[in-house]
Amino acid sequence: QLNSLAVAAGLKYFGTAVREGSVSSDSAYMAIVNNKNELGQVVSENGQKWDATEPSRNTFTYTQGDIVPNVAKKNGQYLRCHTLTWHSQLPSWVSSGSWTRATLQPVIETHISNVMAHYLGQCYAWDVVNEAIADDGTWRDSVFYRTFSTDFLAISFNAAKKADPNTKLYYNDYNLEYNGAKTERALEVVNIIQKAGAPIDGVGFQAHLIVGSTPSRSSLATVLKRFTALNVEVAYTELDIRHSSLPASTSALATQGNDFANVVGSCLDVTGCVGVTVWGFTDKYSWVPSTFSGAGDALIYDSNLNKKAAWTSISSVL
Ligand code: XIL
Repeated sequence: QLNSLAVAAGLKYFGTAVREGSVSSDSAYMAIVNNKNELGQVVSENGQKWDATEPSRNTFTYTQGDIVPNVAKKNGQYLRCHTLTWHSQLPSWVSSGSWTRATLQPVIETHISNVMAHYLGQCYAWDVVNEAIADDGTWRDSVFYRTFSTDFLAISFNAAKKADPNTKLYYNDYNLEYNGAKTERALEVVNIIQKAGAPIDGVGFQAHLIVGSTPSRSSLATVLKRFTALNVEVAYTELDIRHSSLPASTSALATQGNDFANVVGSCLDVTGCVGVTVWGFTDKYSWVPSTFSGAGDALIYDSNLNKKAAWTSISSVL
């Protein structure tokens, strides 16, 4: 079973995102989620995001946010917590407000201190800032960047440290796996935070990848090592590898398996790569088809909850 194999191979966990709505509605799905030998770590797919936890100013609600942490508690699984400062799934009172530094800083600090206090002691790691970089390597346009330039990075990480000194504080982003302009900028994120004297413990590689275009195990390991060289740990935090066209042929499924094995293998190759999280484990529930039109089947169990070739490839590399 994947988590047991991952732990035996030296990782802290192999885990998954969990869709809140399925926790009470799909017992076959939950039988796999609840198997700690298969999935040693969970993360909320949506429930801890700003629009769910603070939909209007100073009104904090944790009904959705608590669902997956409670699963982790019951099963004794690691919990990753996701996410605090992010331009998306951000309520419009934040994204469309007219702010100055002086008015937006306490909004960020209040959000972070409340949410992290609610989960105090439960999170192995928090994705403090998510997706601050555009795909071409420039800074992403957001209310945070427009108001603070890059100072919202240190503001967020300092607030997080104050709220929970014992969780790992991560910067998390996608398309860092290709060692291009976006990767360079992510290295700069780490530098900026460290130079500001603010704490950062890890960088999360989302790894929303494409079958047949996933980098090799050795180039992935090379990218991870550029980050661990800066004294931060790394993890794959949202791994999925989508087929660009469906249905996938038998050979495309085998390629997908190889690609998954390369990603997991690269984590094994890097001291300081702590674990791998898939963004859902079954094709029954995945954000991919609704986001990437025509693409899908990006996970390791099919939509009938049967193991795919990708599952077997991962188990062989571990
Ligand atoms: C996605 C969820 O999976 C979807 O259910 C939701 O509609 C949109 O967000 N990067 C992230 C995740 O950091 O939070 C996103 O999750 C996927 C991309």
